[in-house]
Amino acid sequence: MKKVFSESLRILPDDWLNPLPLAHWFPAGGAGQRPLEVDVGCGKGRFLLARAAAHPDADFLGVDRMIGRLHKIDRKAVRHGLTNIRWLRLDAYYAVTYMIPENSVTTYYIFFPDPWPKKRHREHRLFNAPFLDSLFRTLKAGGQVHFATDHLPYFDDVVAVIKADKRFAKIPPFEPAGEERTDFELLFLGKTPIGRYSFEKQRG
Ligand SMILES: C[S@@+](CC[C@H](N)C(=O)[O-])C[C@H]1O[C@@H](n2cnc3c(N)ncnc32)[C@H](O)[C@@H]1O
Repeated sequence: MKKVFSESLRILPDDWLNPLPLAHWFPAGGAGQRPLEVDVGCGKGRFLLARAAAHPDADFLGVDRMIGRLHKIDRKAVRHGLTNIRWLRLDAYYAVTYMIPENSVTTYYIFFPDPWPKKRHREHRLFNAPFLDSLFRTLKAGGQVHFATDHLPYFDDVVAVIKADKRFAKIPPFEPAGEERTDFELLFLGKTPIGRYSFEKQRG
């Protein structure tokens, strides 16, 4: 029999064609009154859960396409009484491009996105010029993006695309505290070098 799961923190929009009404989904904050941090490809949510627990004054959105991983986040967030997390099961490019409102995000975390190492699969990579347009549109002025990957050729490609885009400025890389290391990072830590790059939307 199919398992029925109670989803408390899911964002399930009525309208998939227009930006989310954030004030509806984040009633504690809403309408841009609190910082909004988005974990793109949040996986099982070790980072998202730790970050949300440490920052009750901000709202957190996890986006992933794997429902089982998101259900784990839902369960843990409810168990720990975290009211500042919501999750959206959706393709990350679609979510950032069409569902996140303009000028609404303080921080994006994009940790260990699938690197698609084969040349014929490159088109599946998340970071490209249109995705940067979507990040730019949805970030607040001075909003930040933190990226990390264990795949150094992918790291070099992403950094080259960002450096070529004068709408963004490099900032010191985000170094997670121990409890904020992601599930994937824990797999690689001490075994593989990790590339980290952070940048912000230029003000003015
Ligand atoms: C390598 S895992 C990293 C997960 C997490 N950020 C971490 O560091 O532990 C990549 C995650 O991105 C999700 N993902 C990959 N492509 C995606 C896409 N196009 N849209 C949404 N999620 C995606 C996968 O389901 C997976 O959970």
